[in-house]
Amino acid sequence: SEPTTILVERRDRVGLITLNRPKALNALNSELMTEVVAAATEFDADPGIGAIVITGSEKAFAAGADIKEMSSKTYADVVSQQFFGAWDDLSRLRTPIIAAVTGYALGGGCELAMLCDTIIAGENARFGQPEINLGVIPGIGGSQRLTRAVGKAKAMDMVLTGRQMKVDEAERAGLVSRVVPTEKCLETALEAAAVIASKSAIATALAKDAVNRAFESSLVEGVRAERALFYSTFATDDQTEGMAAFVEKREPNFTHR
Ligand code: HXC
Repeated sequence: SEPTTILVERRDRVGLITLNRPKALNALNSELMTEVVAAATEFDADPGIGAIVITGSEKAFAAGADIKEMSSKTYADVVSQQFFGAWDDLSRLRTPIIAAVTGYALGGGCELAMLCDTIIAGENARFGQPEINLGVIPGIGGSQRLTRAVGKAKAMDMVLTGRQMKVDEAERAGLVSRVVPTEKCLETALEAAAVIASKSAIATALAKDAVNRAFESSLVEGVRAERALFYSTFATDDQTEGMAAFVEKREPNFTHR
C-alpha cells in the first residue's frame, strides 16, 4: 500500500524520503516510523540505488516523537510494543543515508538525523533533545549518539536543559558535516548523495562499515576491523578497475562487484 506519512522518490541512483506530516511538524508516529524504515529498507535492497536522503520541510525536519500518540501510553505498553525499537533497523542498512535538515530537529527528530550517516543542515536548522521538558528522556539513541558526536559536556547540557542548538554551534561541535543556505539544503544533500552513488557500491558499504566501527568499538578493535575490510576490497573487481583507471588516466567504470 502507498505510504501516507512520507513521500518516496527516485532521483537516478539516489532514493529520497520526505517526511510529510506538515500539520504536526513531521512528528514521528508509529506509522511514519514503519513507512520510513520500509522505504529505506527497499532502497537498500535495490542495486539501482547507491545513496538515500531523508528530509523534512523547511519549518521542520521533525519536531520529535508524536507526543499525542505517546501521551496515554503506560510502561507496560512501551515495553511490550518495544516502542520505537524499529528505528534501529535504519542503522543496519548498508546504503549511506544523508539527513538534509532544515528547521526543527527536536527529540526523536534529532535522533533520526543522528541515525543517518551524516547530516547536512540548512542555516535555519535547530537541534535539541527537549524530552526532559516532558518528564522523559531520549529513547531513539539520542543520549548515546549525541554524546559521541559532540562530547559529554555539550550532550549533558543539551539533554539536561532541553535547549536548542543553532547551526553555527552544531557545526562547531561536529554534529553536522556542512551548513548551507536553507533553500539549498536538499539540493546540496542530493548532490552529495549522487557523488556517493557514483562510487563503487561495495567499497562504499565497506567504508561506511569501517567508519561506524569507530563509533561502536575500541580503537584497537576498529583499526583491526578496518585492516580486514581494506584487505577485502582487493577481492573486488572495483579495486582492479579503480586502480587501472587511475594508471590509465581515465574515469573508472565500476561494476559494484
Ligand atoms: C505531536 C506536535 C509535535 C510533536 C509539534 N506538534 N510538535 N504534535 N508531537 N512532537 C504539533 C502541534 O501540536 C501543533 O498542532 C502543530 O504541530 C504546530 O506546532 P506549534 O507548536 O503550534 O508550532 P510552533 O509554535 O511553531 O512551535 C514549534 C515547536 C513546538 C517549538 C517545534 O511545536 C514544540 O515544542 N514541539 C514539541 C517538541 C518536542 O518536545 N519534541 C520532543 C518530543 S519527545 P495543533 O494541532 O495543536 O495545531 C521525543 C521522545 C523520543 O521525541 C523518544 C521516543 C522513544
